[in-house]
Amino acid sequence: MATAAFPRPSVRSSPSAHEALTKHREEHPGERLDYPHPWDVSRSDIYAENRWQPIFREMREAGPLHYIPESPFGPYWAVVQHKAIQHIEALPELFSSSWEHGGITILERLSDEQLAAQGRERFELPMFIAMDRPQHTGQRRTVAPKFTPSAMKDMEDEIRARTGELLDTLPRGETFDWVSTVSIELTTGMLAILFGFPWEDRRLLTFWSDWSGDTEIATVRHLDEMRQGILREMAGYFQSLWIERTHDKEPGEDLISMMIHSEAMNQMSPEEFMGNLILLIVGGNDTTRNTMSGIVYYLDKFPDQRKLFEQNPDMIPNAVQECLRMQTPLAHMRRTCTQDTEQFGQTIRKGDKLVLWYLSANRDETVFENPDRLDLERENARRHIAFGYGIHRCVGARLAELQLKVLLEEMHARRMRVHVAGDIERVRANFVHGFRKLEVELTTF
Ligand code: HEM
Repeated sequence: MATAAFPRPSVRSSPSAHEALTKHREEHPGERLDYPHPWDVSRSDIYAENRWQPIFREMREAGPLHYIPESPFGPYWAVVQHKAIQHIEALPELFSSSWEHGGITILERLSDEQLAAQGRERFELPMFIAMDRPQHTGQRRTVAPKFTPSAMKDMEDEIRARTGELLDTLPRGETFDWVSTVSIELTTGMLAILFGFPWEDRRLLTFWSDWSGDTEIATVRHLDEMRQGILREMAGYFQSLWIERTHDKEPGEDLISMMIHSEAMNQMSPEEFMGNLILLIVGGNDTTRNTMSGIVYYLDKFPDQRKLFEQNPDMIPNAVQECLRMQTPLAHMRRTCTQDTEQFGQTIRKGDKLVLWYLSANRDETVFENPDRLDLERENARRHIAFGYGIHRCVGARLAELQLKVLLEEMHARRMRVHVAGDIERVRANFVHGFRKLEVELTTF
């Protein structure tokens, strides 16, 4: 008979996790599990196969956070309730984002000894998403002016023109991949405009931002190697752009020129400058892209809601929020505890890793009624935390919302109905949550 491979009991396993394991063991005697812990939501298969919902539901019912003693990424606390994530993000001194403590994803930062054992050198670029106060505050201020409501107004016409042009080229009466034809094209084009990036090279932006994908086929070590290789390549490319722009007589209006000529830049090292540029590209790329794919997927899955959208375009701003909630294109962010503390009846120790599962918070039934249903008229859709919460809340949120709103408006103006009509392939990862492929066909409503 097969043997069960349950996790070793841990003194810090939360009681609820223990109860669930015991119950599972009783109900499935002799079962062999291919994974060490039924609540280890770092497994990327559950996202690739779109079956994460009942696991998180069970975890939310059992409590706000649970200690997962074993995973390919080491032990971690899985924080699964909406309120608990906001609580933790509101305590940035106690729960650090700093790369020195481990950074912002579940992926562990390798120690100097581990790197040496692999014969590799460390290559890291500081980015303000992975910094604590006060450095974070100063660096965020250098880019924030590019994302104010008035800056968005200035960009809207260009976004609309480009979106319209692309929608007008889409094939009718045949199946095509929405991800590569629409979502990738629109988001990389947008970033190329924002940064004044050479148009002919814009697909490099897509390639570079894909480092976080496919955690299952890549081992943790390969992921780290891949990330470092891509970082080096990006840094080289942007260094040449930077040198070019530094010599421009008239500073342009793109983000790179703006950063070069800003006051705060004087206090930034070249590595920090490069790191922050890369952060903006990676941050704005597959997140917006996957929401553009999510919009089409969910409107197709809930035809009554698609009808509502078609009949009433006034609901588009709320529809954008609801689609962000449903898709949640970044499944998690991570924090590291800086001192022993009691939270939610649990002892969290200095150095413990906390993984904030936005994907779960946005389906929290205590906040969102009937959370697995797309409801374009949902009154509190805006309470989603797909952009995070607190001092690190996404700085590009307005730009993303604008792009998504314009896409829906331009689809509506063309009376375009998009049907899912073929293969759906999801990203096999626990960080980026989205689609590799979404085959569709267009009709008119
Ligand atoms: C931070 C999501 C689009 C740039 C974040 C965070 C999330 C997020 C979850 C971390 C928040 C936290 O730790 O509390 C998203 C989603 C997007 C999107 C879902 C699209 C649907 C963009 C765009 C840009 C951008 C378009 C820029 C072009 C950034 C930056 C940060 C950030 C720079 C770091 C903010 C900080 O640490 O203060 N984003 N993002 N993001 N995002 Fe976005």
